[in-house]
Order: sequence, then C-alpha cells, then structure tokens
Amino acid sequence: MSLDFRRTHHCGELTDVHIDQTVTLCGWIHTRRDHGGLIFVDLWDKHGITQVVLNPQIDKLAHQQAQSLRNNYVIGVRGAVRPRPEGMVNTKLRTGQIEVYIDDLIIFNKTKTPPFSPWEAQEVSEAIRLKHRYLDLRSDELQKNLHQRYAITRVVRNVLDRQGFIDVETPMLTKSTPEGARDYLVPSRLNPMCFYALPQSPQLFKQILMVAGMDRYFQIVKCFRDEDLRQDRQPEFTQIDLEMSFVDEGQIFELVEELISEIFRQVVGISLERPFPVLKYQEAIDRFGSDKPDTRFGLEIVDVADAVRGCDFKVFAQVLESGGQVRALNIKQSTETLSRKALDDLTEVAKTYGAKGMAWIKVQPNELQSPIIKFFKQEMLDNLLKKTGAEPGDTLVFIADTPKVVADALANIRLAVGRKFNLIDESKIGITWVTEFPLFEHDAAENRWAAMHHPFTAPRDQDLDKLDEAHAAHLRARAYDLVLNGNEIGGGSIRIHQMEVQEKMFQLLGIGPEEARQKFGFLLDALQFGAPPHGGIAFGLDRIAMLLSGAASIRDVIAFPKTQKATCLMTQAPSEADARQLKELRLKFDLS
Ligand code: AMO
Ligand code: AMP
Repeated sequence: MSLDFRRTHHCGELTDVHIDQTVTLCGWIHTRRDHGGLIFVDLWDKHGITQVVLNPQIDKLAHQQAQSLRNNYVIGVRGAVRPRPEGMVNTKLRTGQIEVYIDDLIIFNKTKTPPFSPWEAQEVSEAIRLKHRYLDLRSDELQKNLHQRYAITRVVRNVLDRQGFIDVETPMLTKSTPEGARDYLVPSRLNPMCFYALPQSPQLFKQILMVAGMDRYFQIVKCFRDEDLRQDRQPEFTQIDLEMSFVDEGQIFELVEELISEIFRQVVGISLERPFPVLKYQEAIDRFGSDKPDTRFGLEIVDVADAVRGCDFKVFAQVLESGGQVRALNIKQSTETLSRKALDDLTEVAKTYGAKGMAWIKVQPNELQSPIIKFFKQEMLDNLLKKTGAEPGDTLVFIADTPKVVADALANIRLAVGRKFNLIDESKIGITWVTEFPLFEHDAAENRWAAMHHPFTAPRDQDLDKLDEAHAAHLRARAYDLVLNGNEIGGGSIRIHQMEVQEKMFQLLGIGPEEARQKFGFLLDALQFGAPPHGGIAFGLDRIAMLLSGAASIRDVIAFPKTQKATCLMTQAPSEADARQLKELRLKFDLS
C-alpha cells in the first residue's frame, strides 16, 4: 500500500462537523452488510462505531476487496465524511449523523471465525469467554468496566498526590504477612528448601516506611491470598493501600472520606454526604446481624428475649437458660406473600448459617397463626407484638441460638427478604464506617485468641495495661472498616508503634518470643528505632470497581481474572513445571 494509513480520527469521533473532510480510520469490523451494490461496514474501536460505505462507483478496487471482509477483521479505511441520507440517521450512535465513503482500504489482519462475537456474548458461557478473553474484552461492558476502573485509580493518584502521599513499591517476593489466608509460596533456587511468600498485603512494609519517615505512603498494589473464592474474592486482587504517621482515626477518616467522595463524584457523578455515618461493631451486629450491614433498607433485628422468657416453647427456653439469644425480624405486610415454601426457603437460609430452625408467627387480622403459638401466654404474645411493632399483615421470624448463629442467620434472612420484597433501594448509597471491633476473637477449635484484624492493630489507650487472657474478650481495637451497600470495601487501623506492646500482643496470640523473632523480627527491630504513631487503611480496588459499575462479579472488572478454582483459562495457569525446573529448585512431589 502506498497510502499512509495513520489514523486521523477514532471510530467514536466523527459528527456532522467533519462532513466533507477526508479521514483515515482503523479498527475491527463489528458488522458487515452487503446490500448488492453497496457494502456497509460498522468499524469498531474502543471509542465507538463508525459506519463506512464501500461503493464500487467510488473505488472499484476497495469495493472488490471488501467482498472478502468478515466480522472482526482488522482494517484501515480512508475516505470522505458524508451526511447520512435522510431517514438513515442513527440517533443512538454518536457518529450516527454521518458515514464515510471509502476510496482506499487495507486489511491489516484476517481472523479465524471467532467462537463468539464480543458484542453479542451474553449467551456465551463464562468459561469460553475467559478462554478467549481478548475477544470478551472488546465487549461494551468490559470496555466500560476497565475504563471506569482506570478512572478510579486516576482519582486516587490525584487526590493522594495533592494530600502529600507518595507511591512507594514494596516487594512481591517476601515473607509471610498474617492477613488470615494461606500464603502463595515461591521456592528459592539460590536458597534450597527456602520459600518466599507472595504478600497478602504490604502491611509490614508500609509500617516500616513510617519508621523510615516517609510520613504518607500509598500504593495501588497486587495482594495474594490463597483462600476460598467467592463472587467478591480473587486469589490475586488489588488494594489501594495507604499509611500515615502522627494521625488518629479522625484524620484518617477525613482523608478517606475525601478520597471516596472524589471517586464517586468524578467517576459516577454522585455526591456523597459527609461525614460518613459511623456504626459501632456491636450496634451493627445488634441491628443488622453483620459487621458489613447493607444500610440501604431497614428490617432491623429485634431482641425479644425479655418478651418470651419463661415460655413453654422448649427451644427458646433452653437457649435462654444457656445464655443464648432469641431475636426476631418483623417482615412488614407479608402474610399473603410469604408462602409456606417461602418460609421453608428462609429456614434453609437460617440452617446454612448454623441455626437449627426458624420459628414464625403470622399476624392475621383476627388471630395469630403459627405452629408455636400454643406455647406462649397471652401476655407474652402481647409483649412480643409490642416489642416488634407487629401489625396485622406482618410476619415475625425468630432465631434462637448462640449470639453468633443468631446474628449470622438473621443477617442472611434479612438480606434474602430484602431481595425478595425489593426492599433495597438501588438508587441509594449505603456507606458507613464500622468501628470499635473486638481486638480478639476466640478460636474455639484451637482454644486460643486470634487477632480480629491483624496482630499489628492497636488496642485503645485505656486498655494498654489489660493485654492479658483475663481481659481479652472485652478489649476493643482501634480498627475500622468502610462498608458500601453491604460489602466491606476497606479496612484498617491505628497500629501498635511500641515494641513492648507488640511483644505482649504476640504473646497473647500464642506467638512465642522465638516464633515472633523468626517471623517478624524485622518489625520488632524497626519498632525500636524510632517508630512514630501511625495508622492506615487498605481498600479493595476490585470491589469498589465492581460496585460502581454494577457488575455482577468481581471478574467483570479484572482484565485477566481467575476462576473459582484459581485458574486462568486463557494461559492455563497454574500448570506443571518441567523436570529440569523442579530439579533446579530441588523439589520433589510426595503424591502419597
Ligand atoms: P484487609 O485484609 O481487610 O486489610 O483487606 C483490605 C481490603 O481488601 C479487599 N480484599 C479483597 N478483595 C478481593 N479479593 C480478596 N481475596 C480480598 N481480600 C481482601 C477488601 C478488604 O476490605 N493490611 C490490611 C489493611 C490495613 O490494616 O491497612 C488489609 O489487608 O475490600
Ligand atoms: P420443632 O419443635 O423442632 O418442630 O420446631 C418448631 C418450630 O421451631 C419449627 O418451625 C422450627 O423451625 C422452629 N425452630 C427450631 N429450632 C429453632 C431455633 N433454634 N430458633 C428458632 N426456631 C427454631
């Protein structure tokens, strides 16, 4: 080709102001229609679609070449911009006013018949889409998602730069950081039998950067966790990670609220009310059963223990005697809509979360309908109705069990009912801080205390002298999560900055001095060389991108995601290593 096919415009750009200009466009063939004399091609690039026309009367050769064009071919075209004939204007397309009459064409590349069209991929299984991700990524939805994800990171960089943060990279080949998941290990060839761990987060490095006087650090960083995967989890995911020196919770909240508000404002044009609401952990559990409550709807949990104490219903009586709880939800105006089957479905939800059953009472206009009514005195029933605000048409559902089971079961029944009855106002933004987490949670299986966040989280100042077994259950952490529409999008804390406190913390967690030195010696060392008070937070970028785009799965906002089995269907990772590699690493498999 003698002609230069350097682009003059992209495919989403031309409008009636360009009429009569000669332009060069490059892209992929979205669709091709042969109308006898004329061939119409919708040419696609990430900016949009332009209709180009091949007319044998304008250029015979180009028209002839166009006979062989197929969808997804990569071509360049040159020609004049013309107004579309009357009645042919497409108001849905930005370029719908015009078309380009081609007098030269180049085929950059042909294509095999693709397994699916990226622009009509809705019906295609996700496995096939992931295998041919390069096709899938051409779809409008994924293009939009990835652009939006980039827009988020651009806002993050701008805001944090303005606020005096610098981006510092931390190692990927490192030592284990305890964020609660399994590590991905990487064997070291030069140090046989030794392994790096891929970071579950840059937690320890960012703290050490504070000791190093960096003052305000951030990083948009890959983290790796070998854990069970769900809709909102990936084995490698990206954190917006930050840390600040000489700050308290209030200053961190202020910074984060500016950051998140700017993301919402610039990326989706929503202005958030500030300051964000704050829920204490216990209040979140009591009202919603969850430390990541969806606050876009009510349907709050009611404690009915006092109303039913002393009843003849064995399940409730026994649970209360053994120090458990009886709590309820009042599902308004649902007696008609909550069929037996629907109640059974909710019971199944409860059982999934450990409950032994779910009791219910339907408040009919003239009577209470329930299999358990006979076990209650009238006075108890009156109290129950009063306490739950129940009126005719309402259904009460009850769970009796340990506090944890009651909370988990009711939280999930609440969400199921919220979805079933369309109680969740999708136009609302339910954003809230959750604070005052317990410092420890008890691991019953191993009968020991575990850190609820991570072991570097500071206790409250007034609890510093109570870091012992006797007080462990009641200590609270200077930790906070940010919750958006029922999803934990970020979590952080004020850190321990004194070695003695950190050592005590390890001790309480059952990490002996030797183990602490072996695993975190570098941190303990650093804490002795002038560690400032510091704190920070990390956000799940993938989760934020998922929620802002409305994507159903976290995979839809990641260019090359992994499946539920942590595999990449495009590259076929993970795959077997060859014998030579294993030998160099001195690795042998034990398949027994
Ligand atoms: P945390 O473990 O809470 O905190 O992680 C921070 C945020 O990262 C996101 N996230 C995930 N996203 C996708 N897939 C996963 N597997 C996954 N795991 C976590 C969540 C979560 O809120 N070092 C601390 C932060 C700190 O204390 O500053 C940490 O990593 O949105
Ligand atoms: P049962 O006496 O086992 O037939 O249970 C009577 C009703 O109480 C059924 O609707 C059960 O689902 C319900 N039920 C059983 N265990 C519990 C529990 N732990 N909390 C709430 N309801 C329960």
